[in-house]
Amino acid sequence: MAITTFFSFSFILVLSLFTLISAKCHPDDEQALLSFKSAITADPSAMLSSWKPATDCCIWAGISCQAPNNRVNSISLSGQPNSYLSGTISSSLSKLRFLDGIYLENTRNLSGPFPTVLFHLPNLRYVYIENNKLSGRLPTNIGNLTRLYALSLEGNRFSGKIPSSISKLTELSQLKLGGNHFTGTIPDGIRQLKNLTLLALDRNKLTGSIPDIFTSFSDLRVLRLSYNRFSGNIPASISGLAPLLAYLELGHNSLSRRIPDFLGKFRALDTLDLSWNRFSGTVPKTFGNLTKIFNLDLSHNQLIDPFPVMNVKGIESLDLSYNKFHLKQIPKWVSSSPIIYSLKLAKCGIQMKLDDWNPSETYFYDYIDLSENEINGSSVKLLNRTDYLVGFWGSGNRLKFNLESLKFPATLKTLDLSRNLVYGKVPKAVTGLNSFNVSHNKLCGALPATTFPASSFAGNSCLCGSPLAPWLWK
Ligand SMILES: *[C@@H]1O[C@H](CO)[C@@H](O)[C@H](O)[C@H]1NC(C)=O
Ligand SMILES: *[C@@H]1O[C@H](CO)[C@@H](O)[C@H](O)[C@H]1NC(C)=O
Ligand SMILES: *[C@@H]1O[C@H](CO)[C@@H](O)[C@H](O)[C@H]1NC(C)=O
Ligand SMILES: *[C@@H]1O[C@H](CO)[C@@H](O)[C@H](O)[C@H]1NC(C)=O
Ligand SMILES: *[C@@H]1O[C@H](CO)[C@@H](O)[C@H](O)[C@H]1NC(C)=O
Ligand SMILES: *[C@@H]1O[C@H](CO)[C@@H](O)[C@H](O)[C@H]1NC(C)=O
Ligand SMILES: *[C@@H]1O[C@H](CO)[C@@H](O)[C@H](O)[C@H]1NC(C)=O
Repeated sequence: MAITTFFSFSFILVLSLFTLISAKCHPDDEQALLSFKSAITADPSAMLSSWKPATDCCIWAGISCQAPNNRVNSISLSGQPNSYLSGTISSSLSKLRFLDGIYLENTRNLSGPFPTVLFHLPNLRYVYIENNKLSGRLPTNIGNLTRLYALSLEGNRFSGKIPSSISKLTELSQLKLGGNHFTGTIPDGIRQLKNLTLLALDRNKLTGSIPDIFTSFSDLRVLRLSYNRFSGNIPASISGLAPLLAYLELGHNSLSRRIPDFLGKFRALDTLDLSWNRFSGTVPKTFGNLTKIFNLDLSHNQLIDPFPVMNVKGIESLDLSYNKFHLKQIPKWVSSSPIIYSLKLAKCGIQMKLDDWNPSETYFYDYIDLSENEINGSSVKLLNRTDYLVGFWGSGNRLKFNLESLKFPATLKTLDLSRNLVYGKVPKAVTGLNSFNVSHNKLCGALPATTFPASSFAGNSCLCGSPLAPWLWK
């Protein structure tokens, strides 16, 4: 009897202890999260399946709580390639009085307007609502969110102007609004956001010039303004970012005039993208000082000779295509890079025999584009040395070799040799490619069965078979 009593007593003790430890979730938090869940109309990968009433919400997927009172302090749901969430962001989240961070990333199908519930969360510091379908304008009083350290609404469908009150978010270290439909100019007040380390407004429809507001940014490391409609020149105050800036991406705009000399001062620069603009004149000699540059894209501008000698040890990716350069040779600082994976020098005035090009390392090469130059000889040796090549573009040269002697790297997906002097037959090996073009060469014989269009084979001496129509035989 005594034993039974003791047993039940201990049982009750253990039970109540267990309840005490496990009952971590505050009822307000549980209710707020369950309301969030009920506003989700589709969750095909069951991301929220652990969110069940009367269980501890602190152990639900994506939820974390913080001592001492075990209140929910972050929601973090991240979509995987085959998952998404549909629905809207419930305003009931305002009950999460201790929420510090909300991370709804790549959930892809959350929709609705800007979630004004963010205004009612007094402890909120981090907002990352990325790659969803939120839309409409940003509220003009977005500047009320003064406590935020990070605001990312990247990859949604927000439109209208970036509200000027954004200038009040002075604690921000990251502001990411890329990949939306924002219009208008960059608000001048952004100059107030002195603590920014990352500013990304890329992939919008922003216009006007890039404002000269960068003097106050002493910590900025990443500046992304690509894929907008900016015009004018690179403002002088950007030179103040020299000591720390690592990423400067201004590609796909309508920027013009000369590339400023001061860019050569950017010792920490890792990536510089000025492609698809209207820059003219020469590339400053000071670029020789960019010893840490890994990715340089100056393609599709109107830049002229001479190209400066670079002192970089290992460029990873270089694109100088479609300017007005006459480089004559592939520069030594390119051929000697031990880590280069992408080389694009289309229409760069290169005159050489391809067999004579002897890059010191070909192991990492994924992409080589030498189209529209004056290159003769054969690409057999080069392709035999590049085991992992994915794309080779050599159109519009004077390459002359037997296509049957070409060894196709197993990784090769794209091969463009159009408008050369290539002869022989089209080998079966081409069937493994996604894209192939040998039009306007000297090829002959029956074509292997492929799915490439007739324009891949047009203009050869005596090729025959599908997809060439009889009247294209020559
Ligand atoms: C995405 O959300 C919209 C609006 O809620 C809905 O109509 C649509 O069916 C959802 N798409 C998928 C794939 O679930
Ligand atoms: C937020 O913005 C509204 C409208 O602009 C304003 O009336 C309100 O006082 C602001 N709240 C805070 C806390 O700043
Ligand atoms: C910027 O950050 C520093 C610390 O890193 C902080 O002391 C300062 O108050 C911040 N400035 C603003 C305007 O928030
Ligand atoms: C930077 O480049 C300029 C122009 O080529 C040169 O005069 C200067 O000495 C370089 N500075 C350093 C520190 O290498
Ligand atoms: C190939 O190009 C090089 C460099 O332009 C030139 O010197 C050489 O004569 C060319 N060879 C042939 C066969 O055209
Ligand atoms: C390809 O390279 C191998 C070894 O590096 C060599 O033995 C072979 O002859 C080369 N083939 C061609 C077609 O150059
Ligand atoms: C092949 O190249 C020719 C000439 O460069 C071009 O006109 C044609 O559209 C290309 N075809 C394909 C399928 O890429």
